[in-house]
Amino acid sequence: MDLNELVRTNLKNYSAYETEEQPTDDGWVILNTNENPYPPLPEILNDIKKSINENIRLYPDPTSFELRKMVLSVLLSDKDTLTNRNSIFIGNGSDEILDVIFKVFIDPGDEIVIFYPTYGLYKVLATLYNAKANEIKLNDDFSIPESAYSAKGKLLFINSPNNPNGKSFGNATILKLCGSFPGIVVVDEAYADFSDKTCLPLLKKVKNLIVTRTFSKSFSLASLRIGYALADPNIIKEMNRVKLPYNTNYLGQVAALSCIKHRNKIYEQNKKIIEERERLTEELNKYPGISVLPSDANFIFIKFEDESKTLKFIWDLKEMKILIRHFSKPGLYNYIRITIGKKEDNNKFLKAFNEIAKKYL
Ligand SMILES: Cc1ncc(COP(=O)(O)O)c(C=O)c1O
Repeated sequence: MDLNELVRTNLKNYSAYETEEQPTDDGWVILNTNENPYPPLPEILNDIKKSINENIRLYPDPTSFELRKMVLSVLLSDKDTLTNRNSIFIGNGSDEILDVIFKVFIDPGDEIVIFYPTYGLYKVLATLYNAKANEIKLNDDFSIPESAYSAKGKLLFINSPNNPNGKSFGNATILKLCGSFPGIVVVDEAYADFSDKTCLPLLKKVKNLIVTRTFSKSFSLASLRIGYALADPNIIKEMNRVKLPYNTNYLGQVAALSCIKHRNKIYEQNKKIIEERERLTEELNKYPGISVLPSDANFIFIKFEDESKTLKFIWDLKEMKILIRHFSKPGLYNYIRITIGKKEDNNKFLKAFNEIAKKYL
């Protein structure tokens, strides 16, 4: 058997998504993966523990009926968006939803539009499904350039707030893109709960829009893999046809329902992340030679005027057991991304940063 002969041809040029380093030994301050620094509330952990019983032998609800109902009627009740039970899809994290969207819409050779820089998975999926990804470079201030309004293709991905810079795109921009783009516009709102901005209300007037969201970030459930998408029921119907039968697991569904029940306490907790984001931004902006970009997410993006200093900071921070994110990609070499941690971790970061700054800034 020649494995190379058997594996799909397009996998020869395929680079899989690379996940970030996640050390498990003690003493690390991990500010590189945009997870929520707070564990799920004790009430939520309790609900999960109670559900670890003999029912685990059964398959989970394939339609996540209860969760769909509660997301629409409770979690998003103040968002002025779709309310029909057939307008929501529950996925194994929003990553699976992105994959399902490709499965529904992409034939080999189709074109999609993505921005640069943005979340890396859109491009990875494009390669996997043999689509041609047309990358449009964001302006220097990470806003959308005029050329985007004449872009053509089957899918266009907008990440709002955008990873890695953290800024949301306005609804006027998203609406304009939905109007000009001939295919489906996907707005990935993985981090939207860390701001009051969302394009969910646009779904009431726009048919070619899918909004994806997740319980991984604002609800501290990254390991249980629950995401959701809202769109026109005709789109959701197609997504349901291609998903694997039992795509989300029972404990994930239980945990997400519990998060919805305790959402106000979680929102209070998340306010601390937002306050810390503002504090870090203010503190770091005091240093010469760097600037912190305004962020609507649970991370900040720091720009170094002198590119050669960026790696020095990363290496020294790593020596001090602090992990942050650097993107070795064109236009991004002089930036670092810091996930907002708990106050004590942020203080460790600030202290370390200050020591390193004495050497280099
Ligand atoms: C922009 C963006 N979308 C989606 C995801 C994945 O989220 P999930 O855990 O729901 O699959 C991430 C994770 O880092 C992300 O940064």
